[in-house]
Amino acid sequence: MGSVNIEPLDKSFGAVVTGLRLTELTAAEFADLYRAWLEYALLIFPGQHLSDEQQRQFAGRFGSLVEGLEALEISNVLPSGELRSAVDDDTMKIIRGNMQWHQDNTYMPLQAKGAVFSAKVVPAERGDTAFADMRAAYDALDDETRVLVERLAARHSLAHSQRALNEETKGAGSEYMGYGLDVAESPLRPLVKVHPETGRKALAVGRHAYAVEGLGEAEAAKLLERLNDFAVHNEHWVYQHRWHAGDVVVWDNRCLMHRACDWDFGQKRVMLHSRIAGDPVSEAALVR
Ligand code: SIN
Repeated sequence: MGSVNIEPLDKSFGAVVTGLRLTELTAAEFADLYRAWLEYALLIFPGQHLSDEQQRQFAGRFGSLVEGLEALEISNVLPSGELRSAVDDDTMKIIRGNMQWHQDNTYMPLQAKGAVFSAKVVPAERGDTAFADMRAAYDALDDETRVLVERLAARHSLAHSQRALNEETKGAGSEYMGYGLDVAESPLRPLVKVHPETGRKALAVGRHAYAVEGLGEAEAAKLLERLNDFAVHNEHWVYQHRWHAGDVVVWDNRCLMHRACDWDFGQKRVMLHSRIAGDPVSEAALVR
C-alpha cells in the first residue's frame, strides 16, 4: 500500500490507518491490511463515510457475515427520525447491554470473528466505543490464576446477561425477544481463547459469561468478576474511540472486548454494525 500510513496507538493494541479508500483496495492491499489487523486487533479509518452497501462489501472481505447482521443500524433514532423511548424500546435495551464489556456472539454456537463498525451520526459529546486487549490481560495474569483459568470453561448467555442488567437497571434490561435470546443451551467456552491465526492466547470472559464448569455459583461469579475487572484495569490495554461521523473501525472479536460508552439519550447516535462470522473450526463452543 503506497502512501498508506499505519500509526499505532499508544496502547498495547490498535492503529489508525490513513491514506487509503476502503472501497478501492486491491487484493494485495487488502492482504496487507488484513495482516495489520491481525497484528493490531483494531484498525481505525477516519473519514471514510461508507454507504451501507460499501460497508457490507468491505466487511465481507474479512469473511462471511452473520445473517441478519450484515449492515445493522444500532441507533437511538426511530425510522421516523424521532428518538427512541429510553425506557421500553427493545433497541435501547440492546444498547444498554452493549454498554457492558463483551465479545460478540459468545452466547451463540459460533463466536463472531470480528466486526466493521462505523458512525453515521454522533452526539456532541460522549458515546465513544471502548475496546480492551484480552491478550495483554492474559499475558499479565499471575501464575496461579493463569494455571487456574487454563483449565476452566464458562457458559455464555445473552438471556442471562440481559436479565442481570434488568436487575441492575430496575427493569430497563431484558424484557424482549430477539436475536440471541432463544438459544436453547448456553454455549460452553474456555476462559482462555487461542487465536486461530496468530496463536496468541487471550482471556475470554465478558458480560455473557456466567457459570464456570466445576465451580459453585458464588465462586464462579467471584472469579468472573475478578477476571472482568482485571481485564480492563490497566489503561494501556484499554482504548476509547471518540467518534466523528464517517469513521470506520474493524475489531478482532477473538481477542478484544468492547463496549458502548454512555451518552445523553436525548442526542442522536446512529452507528452501523457488520458482524463477521466466526470460523466453525476455531470459534465453535466446546458444548452448544
Ligand atoms: C456493540 O457493542 O456492538 C456496539 C458498541 C457501540 O455502540 O459503541
